Amino acid sequence: MTNRDLIIQILQDNIGQVVSGEEIAKKLGITRNAVWKNIISLQEMGYKIENKQGKGYILKEDNDVLSEIGIRKYLSDKNIDIIILDRVDSTNDYIKKYIDEIQDKWLIVFANEQTNGKGRLGRSFYSPRNTGLYFSVLLKPDFGFEYSTFLTTACAVAVCSGIKKVFPNLEPKIKWVNDVYIDDKKVCGILTEGQINIETQTFAYAIVGVGVNIYVPSDDFPQDIKNIATSLSNSEFGDGKNLLASTIIDEYKKLYLTIGKNDTISKKYRELSCVIGKDIIAIRGDEKKEYTAIGIDDKCRLIVSNNKGENDILSSGEISIRIK
Ligand code: BTN
Repeated sequence: MTNRDLIIQILQDNIGQVVSGEEIAKKLGITRNAVWKNIISLQEMGYKIENKQGKGYILKEDNDVLSEIGIRKYLSDKNIDIIILDRVDSTNDYIKKYIDEIQDKWLIVFANEQTNGKGRLGRSFYSPRNTGLYFSVLLKPDFGFEYSTFLTTACAVAVCSGIKKVFPNLEPKIKWVNDVYIDDKKVCGILTEGQINIETQTFAYAIVGVGVNIYVPSDDFPQDIKNIATSLSNSEFGDGKNLLASTIIDEYKKLYLTIGKNDTISKKYRELSCVIGKDIIAIRGDEKKEYTAIGIDDKCRLIVSNNKGENDILSSGEISIRIK
């Protein structure tokens, strides 16, 4: 643990109360000047620390800063490696440096901001500073490639559970295949990438990237997504990011362990779908087809019917859908 981690821990143990710089310095065996420098860096990270002249530092109650300690405080699964970055182009791209060292335990990279957040089908994902949860999980599935869709669908279910737990008044829904919606607007997207070993039809690795809009961005959403994107909350929620992150991860891990074993994921996914019964447009490259979505099968594929009453089954791959 760094001195900065230790200082925030001391302040968190005394939240709402003044702790003198001298006391912190003594505990850590560093100078008061070093304490002060660390306090500035904590403030830059977003911690609301007041400097009470001549008395010391006070950490205010309603902090919402993502941190490894903060996530681990709620996380049940201890066997996960966590990296927190302040700013990165894309957590999905960053985590690729660890592919050669991949282990059975998950590695998760979070960032407070992404400068080139990636979405599905070559789109971008708007990831402004400190208002969202942006992370990627590197894992090595031990099931066959035929189950790959479940990496995304299990994650969408986990995001819904996380949102429900932290914001019980919200009703998250899943828009097939990888988007989570609240009141007909997108609040989360998931981008799954990976590599398979053709001979064995097994995964070399998989990366599951998740972006959740928690708060309204300070400059609002850009014009092109303003009408289709939304956030979970209008005001800051004490420790919301750490709580949401750990709840999603714990739930994802639980669901992940059922892949290829039972149909828990497809059942939950179906219950959370906002697409079934709706008229949709399926888009594959330049081709657009109109259907009514009539169900989701046990492989989380979308069952659709055309205007002649003929049924078809859509697998995620290159297809995206728009609800009419
Ligand atoms: C989509 O909406 O099409 C998927 C969006 C996925 C965004 C997340 S944010 C964390 C991770 N890093 C990325 O560059 N993308 C994913």
